[in-house]
Amino acid sequence: MRIIAIANQKGGCGKTTTSINFSACLNFLQKSVLVIDLDPQGHSTCGLGVKIQKGTPTVYELLSPLYHNVLPLSLVIQTVRPDFDILPCHSSLNALEEEFGFLPNNHCKLRELLSRVAGEHRDYDFVVLDCPPNLGVLTWNALNAADEILIPVEPSFFSLHGLGKISETVQIVNRSRESPLNVHALLTLFNSELSFSQEVYDEVKAHFQKRLFTTIIHEHIALKEAAASGLSIVQYSPQSSAFQDYLNLAVEFLERDWNRKLPEKELGWSQVLNNYFGPRQVSDGILFQFLSKTASCVEIAGDFNHWVSEPLVRRNQDGLWQRVIPVELKTFRYKFIVDGEWQVDPHQHAQKENAYGGIDSYAELA
Ligand SMILES: Nc1ncnc2c1ncn2[C@@H]1O[C@H](COP(=O)(O)OP(=O)(O)OP(=O)(O)O)[C@@H](O)[C@H]1O
Ligand SMILES: [Mg+2]
Repeated sequence: MRIIAIANQKGGCGKTTTSINFSACLNFLQKSVLVIDLDPQGHSTCGLGVKIQKGTPTVYELLSPLYHNVLPLSLVIQTVRPDFDILPCHSSLNALEEEFGFLPNNHCKLRELLSRVAGEHRDYDFVVLDCPPNLGVLTWNALNAADEILIPVEPSFFSLHGLGKISETVQIVNRSRESPLNVHALLTLFNSELSFSQEVYDEVKAHFQKRLFTTIIHEHIALKEAAASGLSIVQYSPQSSAFQDYLNLAVEFLERDWNRKLPEKELGWSQVLNNYFGPRQVSDGILFQFLSKTASCVEIAGDFNHWVSEPLVRRNQDGLWQRVIPVELKTFRYKFIVDGEWQVDPHQHAQKENAYGGIDSYAELA
């Protein structure tokens, strides 16, 4: 179970939007995910369409020292989609600040709860913690329970001002941890038309260096609409560029892990690749993707461009290459050209013989 706290004491920087949609995209990539709503505002809870009736148990009842009866986790954890659950919250969670006040080890309560989740309920692939906009007892619990922290930063002067504070908090938390928190930063609410956004990007990059995701989450109205409908962007608008941004984030996140820890031949990863790669219709055309850390040039050619090769762009050091060809087609043949070598798509199993006795990849989009 990998536990990721989405935290920044700065309000409105996209913590909840990222918790919901990053989790939904990890789930789209066939990971099991539990979101824990640790913000008494309950925005992840309602943003995922979960309604809390009077008497519905929430994360508060699981954490509060006033509840002596051990509630079964299955009564509290709610399923949003297959393999995608939430531990919802309610404004009652506000009371914990006071209730935890004099408890010994009050910063370890969430960690204890998560051991219970893994032992008694389900060992999820990922647990995502949506933190409140302060550094109170709930955020401390999250940072003590987490393996990693993802810090969303929106391009504003005040965000830059707060970066030192959150970095300092991470350092303090690290003093009492066995292994340091793995830090990731993410630029959110990015408006490429504003030169200020670029300036902030440069500053954030200077601060976090490699820990800043290459993926940027742009400002998309679809994300607001999705939240208002109680749906993640995966359900609300899978054709949108907002979905593409969060999917890129999930892939980049998994690739970071792949580079860092997992052996290259991790079981299950090829399954993920087969589902994620292969041509896909996106809002601007058809997205082609290729994965190679060693290639220095990857191109795409097919009947849609009269077999005249066009280069893919290498997106990051992990070797994800992408290109959107601005066409709308249901069926087509194509091939990648990797450092001059023509080859079929390793993640697209359908193929057709061509007029020259060779084999092309063949896509049939839904
Ligand atoms: N990429 C985006 N494009 C457009 N709107 C966005 C985007 N990200 C977040 N928003 C909107 O900005 C507002 C703040 O976002 P969100 O609630 O995710 O931030 P937060 O950090 O969780 O806030 P809080 O600190 O209050 O918990 C919301 O109205 C949300 O719909
Ligand atoms: Mg929030």
